[in-house]
This record gives sequence, C-alpha cells and structure tokens, in this order.
Amino acid sequence: PYPWYQKMRDTAPVRYDETRECWDMFQYDDIQTVLTDFDTFSSEHDISLGNESEDSALDLGETMINRDPPEHERLRGIVDEYFQPGYLRQFEENFEELAHTQLDQILADGTEFDFASEFAAPIPAIVIGEILGIPREKREILTGVRQDGDNTQRELKEYITGLVQERKETPTDDILSEVIHATPDGKEMTAEEIYNFCALLLLAGSHTTVTLLTNAIWMFTEHDFISDVRVGAIDLDTAIEEVLRYQPSVHTVVRTATEDVALHGNTIQEGDRIVAWVGSANRDPRQFDDPETFDPERKPNPHMTFGRGIHVCLGAPLARLEARTVLRVFFDRISDVDVTTDERTPITTPTLWGLQTLPISVRT
Ligand code: HEM
Repeated sequence: PYPWYQKMRDTAPVRYDETRECWDMFQYDDIQTVLTDFDTFSSEHDISLGNESEDSALDLGETMINRDPPEHERLRGIVDEYFQPGYLRQFEENFEELAHTQLDQILADGTEFDFASEFAAPIPAIVIGEILGIPREKREILTGVRQDGDNTQRELKEYITGLVQERKETPTDDILSEVIHATPDGKEMTAEEIYNFCALLLLAGSHTTVTLLTNAIWMFTEHDFISDVRVGAIDLDTAIEEVLRYQPSVHTVVRTATEDVALHGNTIQEGDRIVAWVGSANRDPRQFDDPETFDPERKPNPHMTFGRGIHVCLGAPLARLEARTVLRVFFDRISDVDVTTDERTPITTPTLWGLQTLPISVRT
C-alpha cells in the first residue's frame, strides 16, 4: 500500500471514496487532529478492530473503543491502571516461560517452522488470559476464538460468565476480580459489559500482536539486522518501535464527523465516516525523515500505530512488553534465522496488515 499512500498524501490528502462511502485521510497532521478531537470526530459506530476481517468471530457490543465520553471514560477508567507498564511488569516471567514452552515444543520437531502460525499465533491470546486470570488449561477457549465462529464465541461467553460468577463469590487478585468489584460511579459493571470487555481485549489484542511479532522477524531478516538485535548492538525496544512504524499491524482507524468540517478544500459533512490511514501517517515525510527507510535506531519515533488521544491503545504497554520479552527469549535461543520462501502472503484486510505465514529455518 505504501506507494499508493505516497501518491494520496501528495495529490489527494483528504478525499471521498464513493464506493466505500467514506472520507480517506492520509497526512500525519490531519490524522492527529481527527484522533485527538473527539468532540468533532466520534467513535460511536459499529466498528471494531478487525471487524472487516473475514475470520473475526467476535461480536463487540458497547465497549470503550466505540463509546465517546463520558461513557468512554467510565469504561476505560475501570481498567486503565492495570494496563500500565508498572503493573504489567509482574507478568514478565510468565511471558518468558510461555515463549520457552512454545520454542521447546517447536524445536523438538525440527528447526523449520512457520513463525506466524506455529510460534507467534497462540501467544497473545494466552497472555490476555493470563492477565485476566484465566487458567492455562482453558487456553483453547481463547486461542480458538478466531477459528470457528459462533461455537467458540458461545463457549467463551459461557465460560467468562461462569468465571465472573465464581470471582464474585471468591475474589482473587486478578484483573477480572478488580473489574467485577469496581464501582467507578457507584455502580458495578454489568455482566454484559464485563464479557464485552474481555472480548474486546481478545479481538483488539490477539491478531495485532501476533502480527507485530511476525513483522519484527520479517523486517529484521529482510534488512539483515538479526545479529545486531541478538547481541544488543541495536536496542530491541527501539527496533520494535520501528517495526510498529514501518509495518504497522493496524493501518486504519475509523471515526464519524459530528458536524461539518472544512479540510483541504473539502467539506466533510456531519454523519460522514472517516478512515484515518495511520499506515500512511507513519510514512509521511512531513513528520519523519527518510520515512521509506527501515531504521531500527530511529529516535524519536512518534508513529501512530497505537492511535492517539483518549482512545490510544489500552494494550500498547502490554504489546510492547510482550514483544520485547518473547523476542528476547527467541534470540537468546536462536542464533540465526533464514526465511525459507520468497513468497509473502499478506493479510489482506484494510485494518490488519502483516504476513499470514513466515516459514523460517533457524539455527540454535
Ligand atoms: C485501541 C492498535 C494491541 C487493547 C487501539 C487503537 C489502535 C490499536 C490503533 C485505537 C483505536 C481507535 O482509536 O479507534 C493496536 C496494535 C496492537 C494492539 C497495533 C499490537 C501491536 C493491543 C493489546 C490489547 C489492546 C495487546 C489488550 C490486550 C485495546 C483496547 C483499545 C485499543 C481495549 C480501545 C481503547 C479505547 O478505546 O480507549 N489499539 N493494539 N490492543 N486497543 Fe490496541
């Protein structure tokens, strides 16, 4: 999509697409405005990260991602503190162990495997289960969610509803118990809201993070940075930020105008849908020097892959910690990686971007 982004930024930075019936925006500054001005650009519509993707098997009801203030503030306020880096640090060892277990299983069968489906795919859903306090034996309920639609969704709903009941009677110290017992405005969250929250975490946090892990290996191999990252000559955190900028897992964020807005000679009308192409913002030369170059040492790196403003990704600190921890374990045990095919099969939804598979051969 990148040559197209460049053309659009220069020739039609804001334009109406008759077929998709929405405005597209391509420049960094415009997108920054749209995402931060939540009065003019509302999140209240039937969208969710990934709902344009065919394999998205979860319906989202009302959750923080499609609510405006003050409802957004209430829903996010309940959980915000549990997604801060300081709170999440306690899970680091669990994530390490999870990465080791994945590698043990894979390497027992050989050194050629698909990084995306065999190594990365199950990790983010299990991590979300872990922070919610869902036991590992139940992992298939979480990792199966995207595979077979209704059944798994019903199963997940039944399971979470049961778990919520259990935690109501006997609270533990996991996030779910906290969410159940929180009373931000004198009221507890309803069972429906709690389920929707869990489903939102899975929908927004699974595929996106699998893609981040896969895109990292893709970029590091393609640009020959594996050994530098392995030995620490290139800082892994900084390199991950560049993967997020250069090959973001999410390319679009959607809003609806609440009033008429004039921009670049166009008038966006009240009620019009706007697609903000964060994938294009990340390559905008008005913001980044040399944006088409993958520079794993780029600093600062104010990419828009996690959005901006009040809806900025709740899971960003989790995704960052998870990517750093899991990739660190991977590079501690793997001395070299070769991608074994020239074919690149992209995930082809407007929202999600990355590779479906990344067959590799590794040396330990
Ligand atoms: C919001 C991207 C990982 C949970 C968002 C938004 C983006 C995004 C662009 C803003 C949507 C908007 O403004 O409408 C990503 C990417 C990820 C990732 C690229 C991985 C690389 C995660 C994880 C979780 C998560 C791991 C949780 C487990 C959420 C939630 C929101 C959100 C709950 C809604 C926040 C709000 O509305 O206040 N994410 N996300 N995300 N993300 Fe993520």
